[in-house]
Amino acid sequence: MHILFVGDVVGSPGRDMVHEYVPKLKEKYRPHVTIINGENAAGGKGITEKIYRGFLEVGAQAVTLGNHTWDNREIFEFIDDAKYLVRPANFPADNPGKGMVYLKFNQVEIAVISLQGRTFMPTIDCPFKKADELVTEARERTPFIFVDMHAEATSEKQAMGWYLDGRVSAVIGTHTHVQTADERILPGGTGYLSDVGMTGPYDGILGVEREAVLKRFITSLPSRFEVPKEGRAQLSAVRIELDGKTGFAKKMERILINDDHPFYS
Ligand code: FE2
Repeated sequence: MHILFVGDVVGSPGRDMVHEYVPKLKEKYRPHVTIINGENAAGGKGITEKIYRGFLEVGAQAVTLGNHTWDNREIFEFIDDAKYLVRPANFPADNPGKGMVYLKFNQVEIAVISLQGRTFMPTIDCPFKKADELVTEARERTPFIFVDMHAEATSEKQAMGWYLDGRVSAVIGTHTHVQTADERILPGGTGYLSDVGMTGPYDGILGVEREAVLKRFITSLPSRFEVPKEGRAQLSAVRIELDGKTGFAKKMERILINDDHPFYS
């Protein structure tokens, strides 16, 4: 079982990279399951139904979200019908949508879970307790369990990796938009990466126009963050190979495609 996970798609530059390179990556690596984090896909904030469907059409089987889940109000109109859209599971219990979905490849099921951290982020339910609950449920059905840990603090992501080691296939961090070089297989067999990185503008700051970010840092005045419409873009992803019986990670490979890291088919 191979999983391809594409990190935080930001705006139209990110979507264009997904549509250009996901087919190429699928041809090169032949993943059984492709998952995309799309919480910034609509102009940097949230996701629309058209974008979600576009990701499925390009070959993703599931789309994960994060703290920007509700930022595009269109989501309230389609989240209940979006079978493969996964928002953080530790949002308050009566929130719309779901935090875990099961995908099927041939006769094999894989659970995809989204969790959100609480350090330097909005206060929500405990991601560790929610992970216990969902992982226990999922393990009754399948050993293949993928966790997108959407969090600001690397410490909280590492904590989740160690907490779920030996219980899930992989814990992959999202949200901070810079790919980290710490991919490893933890002693219990769980693949771990602190952050998969961002798919979107290459010359902005974390995917938004750098002028506005600079202005805020330098003047402390409010400034509106926009995703640049033009310019160079990148794609960040990780590929995880899982043992067909145990569901644990055997091999991980980070993928970064930009002008400084060209794609070779
Ligand atoms: Fe985020």
